[in-house]
Amino acid sequence: MSAQTPLIAPSILSADFARLGEELRAVERAGADWIHVDVMDGRFVPNLTLGPVVVEAVKRSTALPLDVHLMIVEPERYVQDFIRAGATTVGVQAEACIHLHRTVAQIKEAGARASVVLNPATPADALEYVLADVDQVLVMTVNPGFGGQHFIEGMLHKITRIRRWIDERGLGVRLEVDGGVSAATIGRASAAGADTFVAGTAVFGAKDYAKAIQELRESAERGQHDASSRARATA
Ligand code: DX5
Ligand code: ZN
Repeated sequence: MSAQTPLIAPSILSADFARLGEELRAVERAGADWIHVDVMDGRFVPNLTLGPVVVEAVKRSTALPLDVHLMIVEPERYVQDFIRAGATTVGVQAEACIHLHRTVAQIKEAGARASVVLNPATPADALEYVLADVDQVLVMTVNPGFGGQHFIEGMLHKITRIRRWIDERGLGVRLEVDGGVSAATIGRASAAGADTFVAGTAVFGAKDYAKAIQELRESAERGQHDASSRARATA
């Protein structure tokens, strides 16, 4: 298994929006690697959040890369706006893209990293003909729409499969998980092959952001280590 250095991406969905600038500076100081931004349109998911105007404000408040997760229908209509607003990575839901291959190319041509997101019920096979073209895959470990839900254990198998494909094909694709990631679940996701971790409640719900991020990072590293010692033992 050759997962990359684990990255922790706090999701601002669980932040205090009235003090967003302060919250961003606090997680940056606390050691966050990326900022995860959840965009919801009330159609693809039953919730509404924010648009490019807020992404632009987030961009002005942090030096960290912005991992923008579009839970919207017809994302190709807005990709350009989010990249102009400062998105480093744009994630589109495979289920929302009629022309997924074209949308991935559109994101890359506009100068951002392209991420394809899979809902829990979407099989890993949806990636077959785009995996070589993407920078990142995001496996949803909850049904998208809300923070604070439980991690779906059945997704570990999907993570393992995608990790195997990435390694077999020698791709530098990051494998991210989102939903219910906590100090209790991150180790299993990491051992299965994830290397990038979105955490909303587990960071913004904690009193001490630095301690929460450090705990997540350590458990992720332990998971990676356990998986590689297991792989060596069975080799
Ligand atoms: C869910 C969002 C997640 C959410 C995660 O629809 O995509 O990014 O903020 O929140 P937690 O970590 O609380 O499950
Ligand atoms: Zn998300």
